[in-house]
Amino acid sequence: MFDYRKATFDDVEAIHKLCNHYAAQNLMLPRSRNSIYENLRDYVVAIQDGQVIGCGAVHFVWNRLAEIRSLAIDPSLVKSGIGREIVSRLEKNAQERGTKMFFTLTYQPGFFQKCGYTSSDKEKLPQKVWKECVYCPQYPYCNEQALVKILPGYEAPENKLI
Ligand SMILES: CC(C)(COP(=O)(O)OP(=O)(O)OC[C@H]1O[C@@H](n2cnc3c(N)ncnc32)[C@H](O)[C@@H]1OP(=O)(O)O)[C@@H](O)C(=O)NCCC(=O)NCCS
Repeated sequence: MFDYRKATFDDVEAIHKLCNHYAAQNLMLPRSRNSIYENLRDYVVAIQDGQVIGCGAVHFVWNRLAEIRSLAIDPSLVKSGIGREIVSRLEKNAQERGTKMFFTLTYQPGFFQKCGYTSSDKEKLPQKVWKECVYCPQYPYCNEQALVKILPGYEAPENKLI
């Protein structure tokens, strides 16, 4: 019913529209076209009838650590399994390059819990995670929650990273 693939330049306008639709409701960070172009390799899109109806990105942050972000599903298609499928594909792409730990900052902890993430203390994330926060309209009064997923069998360095 839905197709999934890596994003291309042709998808940028649709990704921009989806993310900023939800950013306008303060549900996620706004994304500029420039940021989407520069990070296009991070993105996976979901397609229905040739149209982009969902997107998400995985961004490498530190050693074996990646952030799941910019997840947005067309409002008419939420709760159709698309978000979970995109997260799964993003994780697979990142694991192929050695990622062992994922985190996300979100207002939708329930969704990420369904994807196998658990709540964490924001302070445990590396400081460089916060470099984007200064661009957020809600900075410094942000209530996003941090959730993490550590792959089975991997021992995260104690008190470091996550
Ligand atoms: C959050 C979002 C990405 C979820 O995507 P989705 O395609 O609707 O989610 P799925 O259909 O894959 O849901 C997977 C599971 O999570 C549950 N779920 C979905 N959204 C949820 C939410 N907001 N809270 C709690 N559970 C949720 C579903 O019911 C489903 O559970 P089930 O397996 O028991 O049936 C989507 O609703 C969205 O685009 N929201 C607005 C933008 C946003 O907040 N993005 C997150 C920024 S990081």
